[in-house]
Amino acid sequence: MDSYDQVSLSSLIGPDRVHKDYYIDPEIFKLEIDRIFSKSWLLVGHESQVPNPGDYVTLTLLDQPMLMSRHRDGSIHVMFNRCSHRGARVCTKPSGKALRFECPYHGWAFHTNGNHAGVPYPERYADGFIKGGDFDLARPPKQELYRGFVFVAFDSEVCDLDSFLGPMRDHIDNMVDRSPLGELEAPAGMFRYRFAANWKIQLENLNDLYHPMFTHASTTAEDGTQFRRQGAEGDEAGKVKLLEKHSSLNMQWEEQVIAGHAHGHTYMQRFPMDRENQGPVYERYKRSMVDAYGGDAEAKMMVHHHNSIFFPHWSIQYMTQHIRIMNPISVDCTENIIIPLKLKGAPEEMWKSALRSNNNSHSPSGMVMADDMDAWVRCQEGMQANGHDWIVFARSVGEESIDNEGSFEGLGTSEANARHQHKAWLHYMCGTVQGV
Ligand code: FES
Ligand SMILES: [Fe+2]
Repeated sequence: MDSYDQVSLSSLIGPDRVHKDYYIDPEIFKLEIDRIFSKSWLLVGHESQVPNPGDYVTLTLLDQPMLMSRHRDGSIHVMFNRCSHRGARVCTKPSGKALRFECPYHGWAFHTNGNHAGVPYPERYADGFIKGGDFDLARPPKQELYRGFVFVAFDSEVCDLDSFLGPMRDHIDNMVDRSPLGELEAPAGMFRYRFAANWKIQLENLNDLYHPMFTHASTTAEDGTQFRRQGAEGDEAGKVKLLEKHSSLNMQWEEQVIAGHAHGHTYMQRFPMDRENQGPVYERYKRSMVDAYGGDAEAKMMVHHHNSIFFPHWSIQYMTQHIRIMNPISVDCTENIIIPLKLKGAPEEMWKSALRSNNNSHSPSGMVMADDMDAWVRCQEGMQANGHDWIVFARSVGEESIDNEGSFEGLGTSEANARHQHKAWLHYMCGTVQGV
């Protein structure tokens, strides 16, 4: 029986703090999988990861081994990567191409849509034992595609994807609409790595403007080691765009809008430098957008946000053009899957530049990511200490505006984004979340 009831769950969440058990209690983690993740639409990836019939990728979603493939009729299929014979993982490579999937243990075979294709020496099974459908690869009860993004739900009662995304659908549109062809693709593969911290610590961090000048001092400070190193080596091309106006950026962070919608979704307004688009490549991009969309081109080219977080487990970062799946593995382990996305039809130079920014910032050893992971792991370790039981989120408490739909808007280094997530967490955990 669960030892947490509504009262004890509520006692973990204060208006300006949360109890450390929120991050370190394995029983809380187990409940989160059942009550939050299993009640949500989860992002599996982008359909362009499997562009041709027979292409597949494997991944872990929550603790489940999964397989996404493209069938010969062009359809996308998400399945549990588990043989219907004795349970072996059918595909073990991160990605590949197959005419059909064959389990390496006893050779049971499956079509690329998951349908059972047959067993070796079937005559040794009782008549009628191997029959249509019974031994297909199992599938999550729900699967939907939105503009190339592939989602599944592990509970058949979850509302439709459109209602789940709500106003956050515009955040996907904003990314896709910037392509002159209205399509994204993921030709560069992915980064996949794990770090030893609870999933919520990263979620709170992505729209946290209180930390960059400290956690990322080596990158953001004028005399930081990253700058010194680049200067010394004269590696002009290696400079990340984010860094070019770093000192004034620090001043502007207090004016950034941090906002969110019901059910824990949060986002950050774009950085001012995102507006500094100019030069011959940008002009070419602009022309291709005008050719494609005429008078609507300018509106479609506009980047509205820096980071958008789709509660509970994925985000879009617009500047470096990636999606990030934040996969909870255990109470103190999270896996990140970072997939850079190309705007189809835009100049190749834009893609190269986005990819370089991604490599510099969000690879496991990237300038930004390594700093952040170090901070998150320190939190997880430090929270084990006795003395203080509470984790504090009191900055600018009460200053954010909240409307009747459950949306909020705050400013700069306020910790309003994290407080918003804590409220959504409590609703999910207590089963009082409305409309999803
Ligand atoms: S476990 Fe897959 S064929 Fe036996
Ligand atoms: Fe950071």
